[in-house]
Parts: sequence; structure tokens; C-alpha cells
Amino acid sequence: MTEGLENVVAAETVLSEVDGAAGRLVIRGALVEDLARHVRFAGMVHLLFDGFFAELPDEATLARRLGEARVAVFADVAALDAKLIAAPPIEAIRALSARLPDGDDLATALRLLAAPAVFTAAHARARAGLRPVVPDARLDHAADILRMMRDAPAAAEEIAALDAYLVTVSDHGLNASTFAARVVASTRAGLTSAVIAGLSALKGPLHGGAPGPVIEMLDAIGDPDNARAWLEAALRRGERLMGFGHRIYRVRDPRADALKQAVRRLQRNAGRLAHAEAIEAAALAILRERKPDRSLETNVEFYTALLLEALAFQPDAFTCVFAMGRTIGWIAHAREQLASGKLIRPQSRYHGPEPLRAA
Ligand code: ACO
Repeated sequence: MTEGLENVVAAETVLSEVDGAAGRLVIRGALVEDLARHVRFAGMVHLLFDGFFAELPDEATLARRLGEARVAVFADVAALDAKLIAAPPIEAIRALSARLPDGDDLATALRLLAAPAVFTAAHARARAGLRPVVPDARLDHAADILRMMRDAPAAAEEIAALDAYLVTVSDHGLNASTFAARVVASTRAGLTSAVIAGLSALKGPLHGGAPGPVIEMLDAIGDPDNARAWLEAALRRGERLMGFGHRIYRVRDPRADALKQAVRRLQRNAGRLAHAEAIEAAALAILRERKPDRSLETNVEFYTALLLEALAFQPDAFTCVFAMGRTIGWIAHAREQLASGKLIRPQSRYHGPEPLRAA
């Protein structure tokens, strides 16, 4: 048995390929860095859903129907009570999403795509004592997310940066949350159940919960001259450096550079980017010294943190923004799994005691 199913192929897919040796991510025949520059959210939905929904409309119609779905799920913002407002954003978003009806059709899928966008904005505003902003169905998804967060239109370059992020993280082979979504989909429980499983797996700090702690790390280090001492102390305490290392990539995660370019194009706070680059260089040097046998490189979460911070998302909501993009992949994988018709049900090997038999 392989610990953590490392190197085990557990699904056949036409959706994406993660080449860990070459540092290459292909999503439906295109390189992630090209998609990040040229495709918007609805275009990515179209690309990943193509072939998995019989009635899939063109990109413009999808964008419009996604807008209508945002308006429809906004009704559930009323369920945001004091307990959920006080909860971590990802838990509040999961609880609200779990209220959505289950199903396997495109309408269910669009509601599930709309949910993290609408609920994350409403939760952030509620925590700040502000009223939620009603979605505008006419806007593109990324533009409306930023508008719902701020109650003001976002600049074109900010919308482009958020689109680049959501597209970059939309799918990534059989990562932990996608596997969880496929397992649930294989039981024929429905897309909502599959997406809730994906959200739950994404929440963990070894998966989608890392970028918030990246900001904490950058802030705690402060002056890059302190980086070596701070990072070595963290490793001595047995901690992992957030934003580094990956199960599959043995070279740099291609998404890290796609996002770094998106941060650069945004042209906000160049000082913060230089600060992060200096700390990244120190961390990579220390990881090479401390773990010479394990190639630990920068992963997607490091520059995710910088990009989402520049767009004024709160660090504890970064995982929710990740979910806004990854839900596209979860749904496509769930539909692909469903089409295979096979229940995922592996085996375990028992090492416990044998039952005692009466003499
Ligand atoms: N910092 C320090 N040491 C690390 C790190 C890290 N970021 N990542 C791995 N290691 C070390 C481990 O301590 C272990 O060392 P050991 O063999 O001396 O015990 C060795 O490298 C292998 O670690 P594993 O956990 O077996 O490797 P795995 O492939 O399972 O880990 C993971 C991948 C979980 C992402 C890991 O690199 C990690 O914890 N990184 C930090 C969290 C993070 O950035 N998560 C986001 C990942 S990207 C995503 O999911 C979207």
C-alpha cells in the first residue's frame, strides 16, 4: 500500500494533467499560464463543463445564467445568523452552501458556482457590520464578486487579476478535494454533496488553507533580514513553511509564476512583492539545506496570498476565494465520475486483533 495514495492513479480524466517533473499544468489541452492570461471565469466554466452537460450553452449565455444563479442563491444569505457570522468564513460558506438543493443538472452546477461568491462577500460584510450587496446579474462573475465585497465597482485591472486567479486554480488533477468530490459523486449523492465534500477537504492547511498563514508568516518575519532566523526557528519547532512543497511537483509549481505575473500586472504595492520575493528566496535556500533529499519548491499558495491580499480579501477568507475557482473543477470531475458509472470503493488491510472465540 502507498501511504497517502502517493503515485496511485485513481481516475481516468480528460480534464487536467499535472506534470510534476516538468512543472507543467495542462487543462483541457491548454497550459495554465496561457489560460490565466486569456480566459475569463465563464470561459473556464465552458471549457471544463464541455461534454459533461448535454444542454451546455455558449460562454455568453453561461455568464448570464451564472449571474441569475448569483441572484437566486442570494436568498440564502438571510440564513447568515450570528453563529455563522462568528464562524471562520469557509465554515460559514460550507453551511450556507449545504442548504442548496442537490441535483445533477446545470442549474444545480451554476448555483454551486454562484454560492461561494455570494456567500463569501455577504459573510465578510456581515462581520464588518455591513449589509450584503445584492448581486448584479448583468456583470461578469469576477466583477460582481469584487463589487459585492465592496459595494463599489472594481477597476478593470482588479477584475482581470481575480479572473486570472480563479482560472489558474480551477482544476488540478486528482488533488485531495477533487478526489473527495469524486468519491461522493460516485455514490450518486448529487453535485451539492460532492461540492460540500470538496469544500471540507479544501479547508485543511495542507491543501487550500495555506495562503492565509502565508500572510501571517510574511508579517511575522517583517524585515527580510530576519527571514533566516525566523524560518529556521519555525522548522526547528517542526512546523512546515506554508506555500512550499507539493505532493506532485518536484520543480516550481507553474501556477506560482502565473499568479506572480498577475500580481505584477496589477501594479499594486510593489514593495510587498519585493518583500515576499526576498522571503521566498530565503525559504527556498533553507529548505534546500534542511531537506536536500526532497525537492521543496514554491507552490500556488504563496503568490495566491499576495494576489488576494492586493485585492483586499481578508486572509481568513482566502480559502473561500480558492473555492470560487476550484468549484468548476469539482463539478466537472463529479460529472466525469458519474459518467463512468462506477462506485469508488477501495479496500483496507486489517491489522487489528482477531475476535476471541469462546472455548
Ligand atoms: N516546509 C517544511 N518541510 C516540508 C514542507 C514545508 N512546506 N513540505 C514538506 N516538507 C517535508 C516534510 O516535513 C517531510 O520531511 P521528513 O521526510 O523529514 O519528515 C518531507 O518534506 C515530505 O513531506 P510529506 O508531507 O510526506 O510530503 P507530501 O507530498 O505529502 O506534502 C504538502 C505535500 C502537504 C503540500 C507539504 O509540502 C506541505 O505541508 N506544505 C505546506 C502547506 C502548503 O503549502 N499547502 C498547500 C499545498 S498546494 C495546494 O494544495 C493547493
